[in-house]
Amino acid sequence: MANQLFATKSLSDLHADDSSGPKLKRVLSATALTALGIGGIIGTGIFVLTGVAAANHAGPALALAFIIAGFGCTLAGLCYAEFAAMIPVSGSAYSYSYATLGEGIAWFIGWNLVLEYLFAVATVSVGWSGYLVSLLDHAGLHLPTAFTSAPFAKGAGDLDIVRTGAIINVPAMAIVSALTVICYVGIRQSSGFNTVIVAIKVTVVLLFIAFGVGYINTANWHPFIPENVAPGKYGWSGLLKASGVIFFAYIGFDAISTAAQETKNPQRDMPIGILSSLVICTILYVVTALVLTGMVNYTQLNVSAPVALAVDTYPALSWLGFWIKLGALAGMTSVMLVMTLAQARIFLAMARDGLIWKSFAKVHPKFHTPSTGTVVTGIAAALIGGLFPVGILGEMVSIGTLAAFVTVCIGVLVLRRTRPDLQRPFKTPYPWFTCIVGAIVCFAMMVGLGVGTWIRLVVWTIIGFIIYALYGYKNSRLHRANGERSPASATR
Ligand code: ALA
Repeated sequence: MANQLFATKSLSDLHADDSSGPKLKRVLSATALTALGIGGIIGTGIFVLTGVAAANHAGPALALAFIIAGFGCTLAGLCYAEFAAMIPVSGSAYSYSYATLGEGIAWFIGWNLVLEYLFAVATVSVGWSGYLVSLLDHAGLHLPTAFTSAPFAKGAGDLDIVRTGAIINVPAMAIVSALTVICYVGIRQSSGFNTVIVAIKVTVVLLFIAFGVGYINTANWHPFIPENVAPGKYGWSGLLKASGVIFFAYIGFDAISTAAQETKNPQRDMPIGILSSLVICTILYVVTALVLTGMVNYTQLNVSAPVALAVDTYPALSWLGFWIKLGALAGMTSVMLVMTLAQARIFLAMARDGLIWKSFAKVHPKFHTPSTGTVVTGIAAALIGGLFPVGILGEMVSIGTLAAFVTVCIGVLVLRRTRPDLQRPFKTPYPWFTCIVGAIVCFAMMVGLGVGTWIRLVVWTIIGFIIYALYGYKNSRLHRANGERSPASATR
């Protein structure tokens, strides 16, 4: 058992798997990848979670929280870029850890990527539903709360779940279902659709910055880091908690790496796509945070549409409110699209390795998309989004993703030592600094997320290992191929 947990998949096998069987189409360029990254990044984090993070945790230092989270993501992004260029296969961090740290860790990461992508689709669908309701309210059409919000909510205790009296969140389920159909039909259509939406949401963020900057009242920035009043509430601990919460806003750049098989020139285009989408979004976020906390006092930002609230505060800007809501809806739509694409491809990679059921490895004969994974992702995300609120889901997504980031940072160093011979078209600069500091910053954000989220992560991990023990362990292709041989002998 222990041998198999540490058995690594050879890089040649990873590449062979990707070039055998039915092919995904290679249609994506560096620009399309950057758009895919921005498509996955700008969404619920900036349009919804900024309010809570400023009001409850960081105050005006929200911009600083974005810098801390952006710093951690950039370091992890450099590590992702090295792996994505060297191992341009569909499985992202899952495949990288299979090649470096062994099957046990690879399973842990693959399972956490489900937490990231599938749950992110659900989380964002809830934010999307909130903005839709608010946009329709704007137009005088009022949808009943019982069918537009979650039946469950977070209770007073860390792990308490209470009933809200609502029945189900229908808009959240409807948008996930519609996007599942688009993803099922094909990557070319999906990527083109994504590019249009990305243009809309970036324009909306730029409009907010351009018009909002004239309404900044610098008094709102004082004190920049409000005095700590309780653990995680203002001061330095609040800043760390806020970084963990708004880390969600950056999630998505790593989803680019799951499209490696559909990229024309992955060695060159992957690092460009990952890093440029991250840099563009970090700049937009930090400036947006400064403008937002300058326009409205942070104490008033604990609302579900803080950016819209800021413009609605100034009558001269009220025309912008409609466009912000529309842009936010577009932004969140593309996030869900990218995440659904990514999740289906992670399932594909895990199924090819025999760790989950074979049907997930099926590529649609006509559309050339991983059809089973897409449908399963859609159904599961629609159900979760229909039942749970943003708060619980968002923190689960963040902690799962951070766990994957920490592993990728460490994986780069491990592979530099164990396989110095490998060709690395992109090398992470200053690897000791980048990898170690990247892992530390990401782990610190995990710590900032608090006990309740950690307990849920542990429960999720235990469920994952039960599935591995009952299915993946026996059906692992690596395990079966090695037969009587020691798994360690198959590591090259
Ligand atoms: N970064 C994505 C968002 O904020 C997940 O919606």
